[in-house]
Amino acid sequence: MDARDGIDTLRVDLGLRGYDILIGEDLVATAGNHIRALAAQTRIAVVTDENVAQHWLPTLENGLTQAGIAHDSIVLPAGEHTKDLAHLEDLTNRLLDARIERATTLIALGGGVVGDITGFAAAILLRGLDFIHIPTTLLAQVDSSVGGKTGVNTRHGKNLLGAFHQPRLVLADVGTLETLDRRHFLAGYAETVKYALLGDPQFFSWLETKGADLCAGEREARRHAVLTSCSAKAAIVAEDERELGRRQLLNLGHTFGHALEAQTGFTDAVLHGEAVAIGMVLAFDLSVRLGLCPPDDAERARRHLAERGLPVTLNDLAGPEWTGDALFTQMLHDKKASGGQPTFVLVRGIGQAFTTSEVEAETVRTLLDDALKG
Ligand code: GLY
Repeated sequence: MDARDGIDTLRVDLGLRGYDILIGEDLVATAGNHIRALAAQTRIAVVTDENVAQHWLPTLENGLTQAGIAHDSIVLPAGEHTKDLAHLEDLTNRLLDARIERATTLIALGGGVVGDITGFAAAILLRGLDFIHIPTTLLAQVDSSVGGKTGVNTRHGKNLLGAFHQPRLVLADVGTLETLDRRHFLAGYAETVKYALLGDPQFFSWLETKGADLCAGEREARRHAVLTSCSAKAAIVAEDERELGRRQLLNLGHTFGHALEAQTGFTDAVLHGEAVAIGMVLAFDLSVRLGLCPPDDAERARRHLAERGLPVTLNDLAGPEWTGDALFTQMLHDKKASGGQPTFVLVRGIGQAFTTSEVEAETVRTLLDDALKG
């Protein structure tokens, strides 16, 4: 890790496809300089959504102009429903209309949805373009902008069409978190807690102490959390880019969480991070039922997420009509399912995650039914 001019730099060590993650302030405004330093960019196409465009697109465009970088901008509708094939087709056609070339670099300015669909467009357009992430949500800064997972949802489930395509650079400007509404901030906080719960008990203790200040807006705490999460993710991705082993741990809470998202049709009835928060609590509960995890650790995890204001049970989400059977069936569509069995990330305690596909279907169904009874 390198800290210069108040900016921390982490390296994702993937040889020729390796890249830097810069974490600090004013990185949207100065993005032009960082991009110019990367290579002689002939053209840039910025992809963002209508919410982020209001707050940050002019700042980015001014910086690009000052750095002498020609650019086009495309603004997508905001929300998870944008991450589908229809919007991918529209995005790729608009980029082709703008006469992009192989040397054009795409910038994804926004959260997880913008990052995933833009990254996927970059992976497939003209057989592969460079792209840069400028994540503006906590979720994207701590998780989705790092590691090269790109893709869209289908009616069969979450992220079922996609590609591994690593960015050339990630610029995580913690100042952009100021314009994030509380619900979306908390959804990203759930992914931050995920790193602590899966492998870093000290970070979990730090979050128990500093989480309230972090959520209230303390910049230094936010920066520390983004840095710690990205360090963990960079190390895991460098070891297991294609998710054949250790990277699977990053799916803590996701087998349950993706099923919740799919059941609500990928609408804003449940945000990804909210689904992950409930999913992590269910993963801890399942681990306790299987005699793997001390109940006190599960309670500590649940209490911390609830105290920060995240949903922690299925009944905390108003609206959806869940059934245990439907959720379980959805889990079988998860892309991590193996031999017809869902794969779970379970825990032996806080910071001790592992994966298994050997949980009896009946145990999971009973857990879900009990969770629905409240
Ligand atoms: N979001 C989990 C991963 O990137 O592997």
